[in-house]
Amino acid sequence: MKRLFLAIAVASLAATSYAHAGSNELIKFRQSGYAFMEWNMHKIQAQVIDHPESFDRAQVVASANVIAAIANSGLGALFAPGTDTGTGWQPTRVKQELFLQTDKVKTLAMDFNHQANQLAVVAVNGDPKAIRAQLGKVAESCKNCHERYRARE
Ligand code: HEC
Repeated sequence: MKRLFLAIAVASLAATSYAHAGSNELIKFRQSGYAFMEWNMHKIQAQVIDHPESFDRAQVVASANVIAAIANSGLGALFAPGTDTGTGWQPTRVKQELFLQTDKVKTLAMDFNHQANQLAVVAVNGDPKAIRAQLGKVAESCKNCHERYRARE
């Protein structure tokens, strides 16, 4: 609970300090964060699923830490009012519902946050099987949000 409040406090602080940033810049930041997480998800996937012979614990830990760091960075602040339309690296794919269903979004975001942090813990232990299982949970938490709140390309 304490963590939730902290996360909210950090998010609103970030929202304040980025008040001067244009909407398109916020959209660009969030698209960047998500894209960079995806690259790191793929790197872990390659090492525990597609090419298990390439497994390198330090590399998996590095990628898991990136994903957790982005998850913990207060991404919510990048969905400030006015960012429902606009263009970052590409036109935003966010759905209007994300700005309306705040309770559901918070639940999905917190699940994603939890799974991402858990992946960083599991990665340190270095068991490819456990990492694979936790990677699946993270991927599912990404998908759960996309299905509701990200428009198809
Ligand atoms: C709480 C909701 C939510 C979660 C959790 C989430 N995403 Fe997304 N994602 C979005 C939304 C909304 C967009 C569209 C952003 C935009 O275009 O403004 C997006 C966009 C993206 C994009 C496209 C970025 C671009 O280049 O425009 C990728 C890739 C992506 N997400 C990957 C991920 C991965 C990987 C995870 C999990 C590790 C994840 N997302 C978790 C909501 C979420």
